[in-house]
Amino acid sequence: MVSLANVYRSFALGHTTVHALMDVSLDIRAGDMVAIWGPSGSGKSTLLNVIGLIDKPDGGTVAFDGADVRSWSDDMLSDARNRKIGFVFQSFNLIPVMSALENVMLPLQLQGIADKTARQTAARWLQKVGLEQLTNMRPDRLSGGQRQRVAIARALAIEPEVVIADEPTANLDSENSRAVVDLMHQMNRQTGVTFVFSTHDQRLLDQVPTHLELHDGRLITRAQEAIA
Ligand SMILES: Nc1ncnc2c1ncn2[C@@H]1O[C@H](COP(=O)(O)OP(=O)(O)OP(=O)(O)O)[C@@H](O)[C@H]1O
Ligand SMILES: [Mg+2]
Repeated sequence: MVSLANVYRSFALGHTTVHALMDVSLDIRAGDMVAIWGPSGSGKSTLLNVIGLIDKPDGGTVAFDGADVRSWSDDMLSDARNRKIGFVFQSFNLIPVMSALENVMLPLQLQGIADKTARQTAARWLQKVGLEQLTNMRPDRLSGGQRQRVAIARALAIEPEVVIADEPTANLDSENSRAVVDLMHQMNRQTGVTFVFSTHDQRLLDQVPTHLELHDGRLITRAQEAIA
């Protein structure tokens, strides 16, 4: 569903150039659960931004659902992001003045879905992630693990094809980290939604079937499942 072929991405930094991604090729299939592991600065966020159609590579090709996205306009890219891709962030990025339910409703309302339907859908997703008791809580009353559950429910509520999560466990203790990876895996199995997440915690990798390892912008190992 997302294929990268010989992708390069570099950034100018003063007089030098940082090569954040070098010759990265990978194939993520619908229904995959993929972890991208690598040390700080290895290019994980850059790679997720390319996969999530947030950033364009300087070289190589990106195909989304078989279409070469190089020719897509900014409107087409943002439309694909809004409808087909859910995002989860390290810092949760929930809106503090809204309840858990309202946070999950928001992307549905932005798609023009009526409030009543959005409310029902959001409540259903909060139930799926085990937060049905906490729907009216604001984020500051929730634990880190609970906040990330809300963020996962929000990402899934639009029924995307893929959820991209950049270090979703970086602000969580080890127990909550494991629980969040478990939840992503459970949602992957239940709904068939593709998950791609990054982590620098090697201990979480035994929970997921496919790992990709980045080192200095290069992919160094590829599990069999990730190869088309
Ligand atoms: N917008 C940017 N401008 C300049 N350099 C950048 C930019 N984004 C990333 N880089 C550089 O590209 C390299 C890869 O960065 P990236 O953020 O992708 O790594 P990462 O693996 O996500 O690191 P971390 O684990 O710290 O989040 C780094 O050297 C970084 O400094
Ligand atoms: Mg990063």
